[in-house]
Amino acid sequence: MAGKVFFSVSMSLDGFIAPESSEELMGQQWMELQQWVFRQRHFRENLKLGKGGEEGRDNDIVRETFERTGASVMGKRMFDAGEQMWPEEPPFHTPVFVVTHEERDPWERQGGTTFRFVNDGIESVLDRAREAAGEQDVRIAGGGETIVQYLNAGLIDQFHVALSPVLFGSGVRLFEGVDAGRVALEPVRAEPTQRVTHLTYAVRER
Ligand SMILES: NC(=O)c1ccc[n+]([C@@H]2O[C@H](COP(=O)([O-])OP(=O)(O)OC[C@H]3O[C@@H](n4cnc5c(N)ncnc54)[C@H](OP(=O)(O)O)[C@@H]3O)[C@@H](O)[C@H]2O)c1
Repeated sequence: MAGKVFFSVSMSLDGFIAPESSEELMGQQWMELQQWVFRQRHFRENLKLGKGGEEGRDNDIVRETFERTGASVMGKRMFDAGEQMWPEEPPFHTPVFVVTHEERDPWERQGGTTFRFVNDGIESVLDRAREAAGEQDVRIAGGGETIVQYLNAGLIDQFHVALSPVLFGSGVRLFEGVDAGRVALEPVRAEPTQRVTHLTYAVRER
């Protein structure tokens, strides 16, 4: 049976997932947005950030998200930002498909991550990701522009937002351009922890 298509992001309380410019990534607001995830044991092990880390519901959510993912899809701006920051062994350990206008050969990294650059639209990208993922799920990793295209096309089954206690004021909005007349949400779970509030929704067509 084919897996689900989902996304899972950290979002500021006012609806942003990144600062406007990638130069501000790793700045204070970004770190506040992502503070919960950097502390988790699974995340630290995966990115080789060092031993230790928190265990508990936040860590379980990080681990479950990685374990369910058989392939990821991302936009070119997310890739560009990550290309500068990911280590030799990026944290995906699966095929990653980059939606882009740029033609580029596959980029194979250590630990099972190969980035493939696909130029023929979001549906074709998703077909390839589904095939690569087999029975596992496909994660639309980000960023906002890419996620919204998949939402508007009715191709997302479920999503998780870790609502972080930070205000951005401006930046990359998660739901910029969403077709609100088409996308309806069904609450699945709301779980507050000490660091963030985890919100999970199923997506339905109106
Ligand atoms: N907070 C979180 O959890 C989280 C998660 C993921 C990402 N992010 C952040 O989100 C930011 C990026 O988000 P974003 O919305 O600015 O950009 P994005 O969705 O990552 O990338 C958009 C770009 O992808 C390419 N693209 C998108 N759709 C396409 C299509 N249908 N056909 C061909 N190319 C297409 C285009 O680039 P080209 O024309 O150049 O090919 C487009 O400019 C980054 O800063 C990243 O760190 C945050």
